Amino acid sequence: MAKRVLITSALPYINGVKHLGNLIGSLLPADVYARHLRLKGVETAFICGTDEHGTPAEIGAMEEGKSIEAYCLEKHELQASIYRAFDISFDFFGRSSSDENIAMTQAIFSRIDENGFVYEKSISQFYSLDDRRFLPDRYVVGTCPKCGFSSARGDQCDGCGNLLDPIELIAPRSALSGSTNLELRQTKHLFLKLEALTPDIAAFINEHPEWSPTVLGIARKWLSEGLRDRSITRDLSWGVPVNKPGFEGKVFYVWFDAPIAYISMTKEWCKLQGDADGWTRWWKDVNDVELVQFMAKDNVPFHTVFWPAMMKATGDTWVFAETIKGFNWLTYEGGKFSTSRRRGVFTDQAIALYPSDYWRYSLLASAPESDDSDFDFGTFANHVNKDLADVLGNFVNRVHGLIAKHFPEGLPPGFTPDPSLEKQVQEKVSGFLSSLDALKFRAAIQIMRSLWVLGNEYITGAQPWSIVKADRNAAANILKNCLFLQNVFSYCASPVMPSMAEHINAHPGAGDRWSYDDMFAIDWLKGTVSLPQPAVLVAKISDEEVADLQLRFAGQMVEA
Ligand code: MF3
Ligand code: ZN
Repeated sequence: MAKRVLITSALPYINGVKHLGNLIGSLLPADVYARHLRLKGVETAFICGTDEHGTPAEIGAMEEGKSIEAYCLEKHELQASIYRAFDISFDFFGRSSSDENIAMTQAIFSRIDENGFVYEKSISQFYSLDDRRFLPDRYVVGTCPKCGFSSARGDQCDGCGNLLDPIELIAPRSALSGSTNLELRQTKHLFLKLEALTPDIAAFINEHPEWSPTVLGIARKWLSEGLRDRSITRDLSWGVPVNKPGFEGKVFYVWFDAPIAYISMTKEWCKLQGDADGWTRWWKDVNDVELVQFMAKDNVPFHTVFWPAMMKATGDTWVFAETIKGFNWLTYEGGKFSTSRRRGVFTDQAIALYPSDYWRYSLLASAPESDDSDFDFGTFANHVNKDLADVLGNFVNRVHGLIAKHFPEGLPPGFTPDPSLEKQVQEKVSGFLSSLDALKFRAAIQIMRSLWVLGNEYITGAQPWSIVKADRNAAANILKNCLFLQNVFSYCASPVMPSMAEHINAHPGAGDRWSYDDMFAIDWLKGTVSLPQPAVLVAKISDEEVADLQLRFAGQMVEA
């Protein structure tokens, strides 16, 4: 294993609050992995931020009647505060519109250009006579030529996921005004020679036969269809200005500067710590760094082809992704999440309803890892009621209640671990840890739950409440074995449910710096052990509440 692990989560677009699908599609699993590695003692950097350029920002600002700068600042802070509430433990959450990223993007462009991987070409672009401007990317919508989806965006079709050139759209119209009064005009742009970079990209992808079928499928499909040169500039005013004579007034394509922001955000983070060159430890030390990137599947082409091609074209040394973890889609109650129809649960609404840990647990338990998966409130309530309350909460509260009742003065000194219990726990824990190592989140959650079940079985079988009458020491020893278990639960819960983990951590010496090394510690159980912490309160969700929530988030009809 590499000495250091750099984790990125796809940079969420600035335009508004994200829904639960976005959370489970990259941010949350990236966070669990970052926390897992820190608990293992691996030096980790977890970098993310808002993706602020491109058409979504401009359209969003226009809709709210704000300047783009004010809009981006406001939405950046809003998203940052929501992710804090979900306990996403970024080392740095930056902005792709930062000065640092403008400088880094321009520097990387210059390298690509110097190496001859850029050329200029005049192309036809839609020009809207009513809006009096060019309509790149998402500024134009129409029918997808590949699947017939009627509101395909100019850059990518939401119906089939294919990347598009705006001029391929059937029945195009302006996303700004809805006008169909468009004409094609010539405009000069810069192109990246993707075709010439095919051997580099093929080599990169072929180095990773271990990537998931979803990720490899997407990457190989791109390769087999043949890489086409792509324009990297746009006729827009909001973005990173193109640093080449003759291109004044144009900016780089958002997908050109956004992935570079992973690097510039790392740089900003290092600078904050007083180490201006520190970023090179993360992006240049190819032998010591492992880059692990989390994203939803629509982002996979950019991370397996487009961005690596850019970085290869610089001719410089860079750390490339070792792992690309692509997620499928989360649906909502059997259908699509829809921002425009307000269908589904958005992260700000979710966090106002229930504690972060409930969402984290439930979303990870049904993460769309190998297939699309569905979020529905019935399943969510089952996760909270049946798993968190009836299994985990029940165990902790039983132990707590028995200690309070029979040993209010604390459990007496002496501890004999139960060897068969210990063995079963060790096995499950190693399965749990290796599932997280392999980024198998659903499997990890299942094993964690089975540990809680084991705890309940142990206490039910050992019956400390009846043994206590005849043999207080034997009963106390059973309860200490339960605390040993509870402590294991808290370490396993730590990457997944950080607040719950702290709450149930029974080991008084754990302090702030948690480490898996302390998971099986028993020294603390040898002396007198007093009641570690208050009972766990997992509030159950009733059927009526579920029905109300389903109604509330079902979405509104779009006004005609
Ligand atoms: N903003 C994009 C999205 O939400 C992701 C950008 S990822 C990066 O789909 F690589 F560009 F940073
Ligand atoms: Zn399509």
